[in-house]
Amino acid sequence: MGIHDPQARPDAGGRTPAIDEVVAERLANPARRGVLAGGAVAGALALFSGAAARPAMAAEAPQRARRRPARLGFKPVARHRSDVLSVPEGYTASVLFRLGDPMAANVPAYRNDGTDPAATFAHRAGDHHDAIEYFGIGADGRPVPSSERGLLVMNHEAITAVFLHPNGPSVAGTGNARMRTSAEEVLREYYVHGVAVVEVERDAAGRWSYRQDSRFNRRVHTLTDAALSGPAAGTPYMVTRYSPNGTRTRGTVNNCAHGCTPWNTYLTCEENFANYFRRITADDDPKRTANERASFRRYGIGGIGRELWATVTPDTPDDLYGRWNAEVRGASAAEDYRNVPNTYGWVVEIDPFDPNAVPRKRTGLGRFAHEGCWLAPVRAGRPLVWYSGDDSRGEYIYKYVSDAPWDPADASRGIAAGDKYLDAGRLYAARFNADGTGEWLELRHGSAAINAASKGYAFADQADVLINVRLAADAVGATRMDRPEWGAVDPLTGEVYMTLTNNSEAMRPLSAVDAANPRHYNDARTNGSAQRGNPNGHIIRWQEARNDPAAAAFRWDIYLFGARAGSNPENVNLSGLTADNDFSSPDGLWFSPATSLCWIQTDDGAYTDVTNCMMLAAIPGRVGDGGEQARRTVVSTDSKGGVREVQTFVGAAPGDRLRRFLVGPVQCEITGVTETPDGRTMFVNIQHPGEDTRIADIGNPAAWPSHWPEGGSARPRSATVVITRNDGGQIGI
Ligand code: FEO
Ligand code: CA
Ligand code: CA
Ligand code: CA
Repeated sequence: MGIHDPQARPDAGGRTPAIDEVVAERLANPARRGVLAGGAVAGALALFSGAAARPAMAAEAPQRARRRPARLGFKPVARHRSDVLSVPEGYTASVLFRLGDPMAANVPAYRNDGTDPAATFAHRAGDHHDAIEYFGIGADGRPVPSSERGLLVMNHEAITAVFLHPNGPSVAGTGNARMRTSAEEVLREYYVHGVAVVEVERDAAGRWSYRQDSRFNRRVHTLTDAALSGPAAGTPYMVTRYSPNGTRTRGTVNNCAHGCTPWNTYLTCEENFANYFRRITADDDPKRTANERASFRRYGIGGIGRELWATVTPDTPDDLYGRWNAEVRGASAAEDYRNVPNTYGWVVEIDPFDPNAVPRKRTGLGRFAHEGCWLAPVRAGRPLVWYSGDDSRGEYIYKYVSDAPWDPADASRGIAAGDKYLDAGRLYAARFNADGTGEWLELRHGSAAINAASKGYAFADQADVLINVRLAADAVGATRMDRPEWGAVDPLTGEVYMTLTNNSEAMRPLSAVDAANPRHYNDARTNGSAQRGNPNGHIIRWQEARNDPAAAAFRWDIYLFGARAGSNPENVNLSGLTADNDFSSPDGLWFSPATSLCWIQTDDGAYTDVTNCMMLAAIPGRVGDGGEQARRTVVSTDSKGGVREVQTFVGAAPGDRLRRFLVGPVQCEITGVTETPDGRTMFVNIQHPGEDTRIADIGNPAAWPSHWPEGGSARPRSATVVITRNDGGQIGI
């Protein structure tokens, strides 16, 4: 009997008693619902994830969804390609925190013409706002579930360089000799990457603003000293001129999505770190071992560096620019930066309540293009579990299981608790089987597949495994996925959702289609041009065995398939999307603890002939809710006339339980969403409006595709927006 056989489910509603009983008991007893006074999380019944995990005072216990709302409470927003941000009738969206906004008392307003001095950016909002989390803060500066005052912590992933400088980036030379000619511009770029902590508050009239002079305001960027922590810290692989004992590195970069901890810290995740380093392979490969060459190939480290940061001359005594040069140049690793790529690609813990706390790179969670890091439901006495995805075509889904069982007394220890739970644990990669089951494959040195005799890479020790996790996951036979982006854990069921944003025929041929990545088709644009592979992406979900996040097995189905409305319902539009909810390239994903609604955000280039990127709200069901219709045969075709059939498992069609809530301005990505604990204020990040503006057009504002949010002839800016309901109600229901 297959696990998707409806007869195998515990009851017709697909409920699994163990976890639901825990939820029901907790919700029936308000004293146990959130957290107890004094910062201790309620004991054995504490069950939460993400934002819901933070200590709170009983008197201000955050609102939590008791059950699914029966329906969504807004009219769907129409698709559009205008340079505006649209939200449903009855809602208001306002801009709160934009690229360049000052974050200290003496920093002047942003001119937004490329001339703001680089040094001032150490205290300005960064560029490319990405993941975001709201932490309520009390009068004593400690975490409480306040819906009036909080710290917003957000990632600044990358830059739209054309708008950062007077005339875009100043570059000279060609080919490998291309170089940056302005140290001022490069310094500005160093500062606008990273993370921002900014205090926000709501006034009596319900208007939100940020406090320019808050003592909690902080920027963590590419110059911030960071500690390496966990099994790979202090090993020879981490030795650089910056840290000859391999325990430190400088800064964080390409911070994409994030995660939370039960002790009120923020986990920023380093995604496409590999591109930032200079390493000319023809020069450097001959100086490297076979293992090093294999590692560089697998992680894509070789080239001139995406921002050419290593090319500024002269360098400074502390290697401000040469630190991005990963070639062998000195007599030993302690005299150059040959190992510097090993110090990036990690989950990095930041304590927003302690502006002086040194960020800690948690090497136990492995090194790859971390999209984010999502906490599973927490139970006292059980390990803590975080899920993570490696956002590159054909990469894997991972989970980390702490060695230490959760002790609620650690909820008030801040980043020190991270040393206990994030530095010692086991790392697994996911295999999705064709029958709808799945397994977590441990990535442990000395196992049958991962050892000094592994094919293609000789693993020396566990630190080597963690630094080269992709190679270890190859060795155990994990399942290659269509680009894992965000994950999210359903607060009511504990089931885990993860977006698989898209894949292309060039990177995943028809022969590589499988049950968990089942589509390969042509998503023709309105002008007739072909887009082949899985251009619109899908959202997979799984339920751990016995609802135990630390389990070794799971069962899965596909919750949603992205598609344009009207496309083939048998092989493309398998979720039956309509004009009210069709979407492409899901990326951001988040469950509201207050309403239990699932929020889906897009980072799309496939459906942009019809619409800008968007955010949708959903009321999902459960794994297996497709019932007898779940098992479907998908017929795929490619550009060479190939045909292939694959069986997969499809969740119940969403119908009007999926609606478009927001559409952003031109060439933006919608990414990052969080709420106040009462679910009545939502914060959403709008990333890189107008990102494809040509440098040649910088002098001609009329040619720019976007001027959002100021309009007129202003340069466009990434920004955080605040969304509220005009009647003060909870968002989306
Ligand atoms: Fe930074 Fe995968 O998005
Ligand atoms: Ca993303
Ligand atoms: Ca993306
Ligand atoms: Ca982006």
